[in-house]
Amino acid sequence: MNAATVVALLHLCFTATAALSREDSSPTKIRAEPGDTVELTCCPVGVTPSSATWSKNGTEIRFPSPSRMSLLAEGTLEISQVTLEDAGIYLCTCTLPRESSQTQVLLQVGRVPPTHPDCSLAPSSDPTHAVFNCSWFGVLPLPTLSWSRTGSAQVTASVTDSLFLTLNASQLSDGETATCTAQHDLLKPEQRSCSLTLRSPYPQGEPLAATLEGSSINLTCTETSSFPAADTTWRKGPQQELIQPGSKYVLSGTGPSFQLTILNVSKDDEGVYFCRSENPLGVRELEVSLTVKAANSAYTGAIIGVFIAVLILGSVGIVAKMVYFNRHRFCLDGGFTQMEENGGEVLSLVDSDDEQFFQDAVPQLPPISNDHHTTLVQIHRIPSTEQDDVEKNDAKTQPPEDTEENTEEVEDLVVF
Ligand SMILES: *[C@@H]1O[C@H](CO)[C@@H](O)[C@H](O)[C@H]1NC(C)=O
Ligand SMILES: *[C@@H]1O[C@H](CO)[C@@H](O)[C@H](O)[C@H]1NC(C)=O
Ligand SMILES: *[C@@H]1O[C@H](CO)[C@@H](O)[C@H](O)[C@H]1NC(C)=O
Ligand SMILES: *[C@@H]1O[C@H](CO)[C@@H](O)[C@H](O)[C@H]1NC(C)=O
Ligand SMILES: *[C@@H]1O[C@H](CO)[C@@H](O)[C@H](O)[C@H]1NC(C)=O
Repeated sequence: MNAATVVALLHLCFTATAALSREDSSPTKIRAEPGDTVELTCCPVGVTPSSATWSKNGTEIRFPSPSRMSLLAEGTLEISQVTLEDAGIYLCTCTLPRESSQTQVLLQVGRVPPTHPDCSLAPSSDPTHAVFNCSWFGVLPLPTLSWSRTGSAQVTASVTDSLFLTLNASQLSDGETATCTAQHDLLKPEQRSCSLTLRSPYPQGEPLAATLEGSSINLTCTETSSFPAADTTWRKGPQQELIQPGSKYVLSGTGPSFQLTILNVSKDDEGVYFCRSENPLGVRELEVSLTVKAANSAYTGAIIGVFIAVLILGSVGIVAKMVYFNRHRFCLDGGFTQMEENGGEVLSLVDSDDEQFFQDAVPQLPPISNDHHTTLVQIHRIPSTEQDDVEKNDAKTQPPEDTEENTEEVEDLVVF
């Protein structure tokens, strides 16, 4: 006799007592699991009835019963090895010498585990269909399972422990939720459920990749959102030819990260690659553009480095020159004020063609401290526009006094 039976017995004793005083009480519920032994009490404890009769679902039970039922002393009905078929409404009439009473018992046989139904997608070889699988095992008798979907009034229900719902692609939409609800007599009014939310594929990764000839490169694609799980493949070129693993390509990762390794990259490998993800909701691609640089362009970096170094050294030189030049501000007194009038800059204006001309044209510049002609900032006019050329030509044909304004314009380009 297990605990459930004892509880049932105690419960029955209470209600049987109550039944004596209140004739029309609702049936006492007793739950048993298959295999249990149950004892249904008929008469109050300690009372020896003249007779006790039992009926099940309105049919009298006769003793000795061919089944697993037996009538004990005090009118108690014992059912051993309870089965689902033993469930029903039992009615007992207890006849005592001076009075009689009736007891009604509802015997429920079943088992509901504390688990929930399990929603999953059944593996399907056909990517245009999705098969939803709702299973709830270990429940007795079988539960009623039903599939429903957001945005659809259609409900598929059945008394079973595994309910499948097959939908074709045109019936599915991104973000839609399919819910499986389980109902059971032993659970009422509570019900348990599980659900699945559908997501379109969305492969993600770096759209640009670059490598050197002769090296190898990994292209990575991550597919995390797709539900049902997408079929994710790497493809190459505008025709999106499926890439097969081999001596050239290594495919690794089984989701959510999918990696394509291209070995011994050559210029032919340059181009577009696609990480293509497909599930019943749709297809989506990540496009990766691979650039292959010639191996010797490895020196480009070094060249750039040297260039930058030269630039920095040059700047330092310039600053040094400026400082050196500006020392006149501290060393000269007589010429200083005069220099200020000319914009505070001392310029040696030199142009390959017009050197002589400029020397003629800029006599009004103050004499620079005698022995430092070579330290001055040189401003060159770069004849980059037609206007420049015109001016230069003009300069050559015009008398020197007209070119004085030119010497002022000249100051906009500084070349060291
Ligand atoms: C007896 O009645 C119960 C409750 O009405 C029902 O579930 C069960 O199937 C019936 N059993 C038989 C053997 O008729
Ligand atoms: C359905 O789901 C259950 C529980 O997850 C699993 O045991 C069963 O194999 C699935 N059935 C199919 C056809 O995938
Ligand atoms: C998908 O299901 C809808 C509705 O049941 C049906 O009309 C349609 O023909 C089906 N399409 C395919 C490709 O099976
Ligand atoms: C590519 O990935 C593999 C393993 O995933 C790793 O061993 C290899 O070093 C990677 N190669 C490059 C070039 O990143
Ligand atoms: C790499 O590819 C070049 C031509 O594309 C080939 O000549 C060379 O043998 C390859 N190297 C290896 C290690 O496969």
